[in-house]
Amino acid sequence: MASFESGKARPSSAHTYDPEAYGRDQADGYDERVRSELDPGPAVERLVALAEGGPVLELGIGTGRLALPLARRGVPVHGVDASPEMVAGLRAKPGGADLPVTIGDFADVDATVEGGFSLVLLAVNTIYALPDQEAQVRCFANAAHHLRPGGRFVVEGWLPDLASFHRNRTTRFRQREERAVTIEVVELDPVAQRMSVTSVRLEDGSVRVTPLEHRYA
Ligand SMILES: C[S@@+](CC[C@H](N)C(=O)[O-])C[C@H]1O[C@@H](n2cnc3c(N)ncnc32)[C@H](O)[C@@H]1O
Repeated sequence: MASFESGKARPSSAHTYDPEAYGRDQADGYDERVRSELDPGPAVERLVALAEGGPVLELGIGTGRLALPLARRGVPVHGVDASPEMVAGLRAKPGGADLPVTIGDFADVDATVEGGFSLVLLAVNTIYALPDQEAQVRCFANAAHHLRPGGRFVVEGWLPDLASFHRNRTTRFRQREERAVTIEVVELDPVAQRMSVTSVRLEDGSVRVTPLEHRYA
């Protein structure tokens, strides 16, 4: 098994990148985890205004956290996602079976509609799932390809809080419930702009360990 010390060169994960991996690791319990942290209300209000009637293309539609309330507000939404597990979560919800979804990698997939989209959306750091700058630039070009003239591309993303890292490592509290805690062990590679997160959830009688890779921009 290979191991890497902080600060030493790591192999490029671009070669091993699997767009389906996120859903395999995260689909189970995704809605419960994000419910307490991400209130879709204000985002949906803003997106309804920006969409100007739509249609909207959501790259990484997931389980429909934003797409379903947008659709309920009368905005037609199409989705793209690489994960059958995440899309199954969407399909299981009221209205989720009605949204057209293209399965594929949003850096390259073609989901064009006649007339184009008024808004292309990439929410909650999903752009950082792409493994390197080249793939992220391709994704921007692909978003432009789907927009009608004057359309908008909305990208939501954080910047790492560098002050919270010591020697490019940190451990952070995520959630506490009466009989469960979630903590994250995080390593930063500021040169490659990569953040590798291993999330550990300790629950009465079980331990769940899940990895997450971000290439932040
Ligand atoms: C953080 S979740 C966001 C889901 C939803 N947009 C939300 O706001 O809750 C990221 C989603 O993007 C999908 N995804 C990640 N990388 C992808 C890729 N390269 N191509 C297509 N979908 C991808 C994942 O399967 C997952 O459903």
